[in-house]
Amino acid sequence: MITRDLSIARDHLQRGEIIGLPTETVYGLAGNAFDAAAVQKIYSIKKRPATNPLIVHVGSIAQAETFVTEFPDPLRKLAEHFWPGPLTLLLKKSDHIPDVVTAGSDRVAIRIPDHPLTLELLNQLDFPLVAPSANPYTKISPTRAEEVEAYFGEEVPVVLQGGACEKGLESTIVGYEDDQVVVYRLGSLTVEQLEAVTDNIRIKNRDNPSVLAPGMAKKHYSPQTPLSLVDNTQAFLDAHPDQRIGVFLTGEENPDEIAPVFYARLQHLDKSGYDRLIASYFPEKGLGRTLNDRLRRAGEY
Ligand code: TXA
Ligand code: MG
Repeated sequence: MITRDLSIARDHLQRGEIIGLPTETVYGLAGNAFDAAAVQKIYSIKKRPATNPLIVHVGSIAQAETFVTEFPDPLRKLAEHFWPGPLTLLLKKSDHIPDVVTAGSDRVAIRIPDHPLTLELLNQLDFPLVAPSANPYTKISPTRAEEVEAYFGEEVPVVLQGGACEKGLESTIVGYEDDQVVVYRLGSLTVEQLEAVTDNIRIKNRDNPSVLAPGMAKKHYSPQTPLSLVDNTQAFLDAHPDQRIGVFLTGEENPDEIAPVFYARLQHLDKSGYDRLIASYFPEKGLGRTLNDRLRRAGEY
C-alpha cells in the first residue's frame, strides 16, 4: 500500500516492520535501528550481504550526538552547514547502535534526511531509522514510491508517498582520517559544496572501479540491458546499425538537470526493449563527477 498517512508508517515501524520511505536523495527501506530483528529483515528483503552496513537516519544533531563518541570539528561544521541534507557522516559509534547496523564496524554512518514527511516521522519516533536505498541488491535505486512497490510488493506492505525525490542521487558519505576530511562515496552534495565549507578534502571513492578488483564495481546500480560507455554517440550508432540502441546520455546535458531524473530515466530505458543502452561521461566536476561514478558502476568496462 502506498500512503501519505504518517500514523500508518509509524505503527508499522513501532511493530518492528519495514516500510518504504522518501528522502530527498532516493527512497529508503526503513526499520527501527534499535531492533536487531528489524535490521536483519532489511538485509534479507534487500538480499544484501550482512557485511555491507546501513545508514542511521536521525531527526536532529542532538540525537546524532547520542550515537557517537567523537565528533571531529570539521565534520561538525559540515553537519551544521548541510543537515538536514544529502550528507552522511561516518563517526565512531556509541554502544547504543547495535553491531548488526554497522556490520561490526566501530564507525556508524549517520544523516538527517531533508524530506518534510520523513523528518516529521523521525521526530515522532523514539528510535532512529536504518535505511538503505530501497532497491534489491545491485538494482537501480528508486526515486518514486511506485518503484519501491514494484520492486518488493507485499514484502514491504507500506510505502510512504513523498513524491519524486528532489535530488535523485544518494547522499555523499564523508569521514575523517589522519586530520583529513575523506569522501567515501560521491553523492548529491558535490565536492565543490564541501570545499566551500572545509579544506583539506581527499576523495577516496571506495566504489571507484580503479581501486577495486575488476568486475566488482559493475555489480552496482545495474540495468538488465547492457550499458556501454562511449566517446561519441553518433559514431557508435553508425557502427552498430544492426542493434536497437537506446541513447541514455550524450554527456552534453546539464548534470544539475539530469541528476533528479537519472535513475528514473535509466529504469525506463531498461524496460523499453533495447538491445543496448549507451551513455557518455560528463565533465568531471560538480554533479557530473557523481553521475560519472554511477555510470561507471552501471556500465560495462
Ligand atoms: O542517500 C542515501 O544515503 C540513501 C537514503 C535512503 O538515505 N541511503 C543509501 O543507503 O544510499 P545504502 O545502504 O544504499 O548505501 C549506504 C552506503 C553503503 O555503501 C554502505 O557500505 C555505506 O553506506 N555504509 C553504511 N554504514 C557504514 C559504516 N558504518 N561504515 C562504512 N560504510 C558504511
Ligand atoms: Mg544503495
